[in-house]
Amino acid sequence: MKELLVSNGSKVEKYTFLITQIESVLDYSVDIIANMANIAAMLHFTFGFWWTGFYRVFGDELVLGPYQGPLACTKIKKGRGVCGSSWEQKSTILVPDVEKFPGHIACSSSSRSEIVVPLFKESEVIAVLDIDSDKLATFDEVDKEFLEKIVNLLVVTK
Ligand code: SME
Repeated sequence: MKELLVSNGSKVEKYTFLITQIESVLDYSVDIIANMANIAAMLHFTFGFWWTGFYRVFGDELVLGPYQGPLACTKIKKGRGVCGSSWEQKSTILVPDVEKFPGHIACSSSSRSEIVVPLFKESEVIAVLDIDSDKLATFDEVDKEFLEKIVNLLVVTK
């Protein structure tokens, strides 16, 4: 059983170290859920985020997947909230202040900023990674770059 080791360095150093750990833990012989669960846990406890998890595409909705953090809404329609908008736009969305994002879905009143990163399979979005912070403006281009790399590691899973 491996234990999560956390770098004390800068955000770039933490992500770089985390990616090597994620690569060593990912298991391509099992389905995507198990790997999403470990990625959510590793991101959450490395950075101390408020909520870290996945929503998966089922028909015209996103359905809650593996996550760490407080209770969250179970279903999100395409185009709704930050998650549904990221799916519709097929791109990462950075939200420095959730109160300024029209249509933001507040699963928790403690959430202040957010990033949502889509996961593609054959150019279709199959899931999104959603991360909430209890502080304003937590996420920037560094998070976007590394989180896009991290979700891409899931593409080859079953
Ligand atoms: N805030 C998200 C909803 C999901 S929760 O934050 C876990 C949104 O607006 O899509």
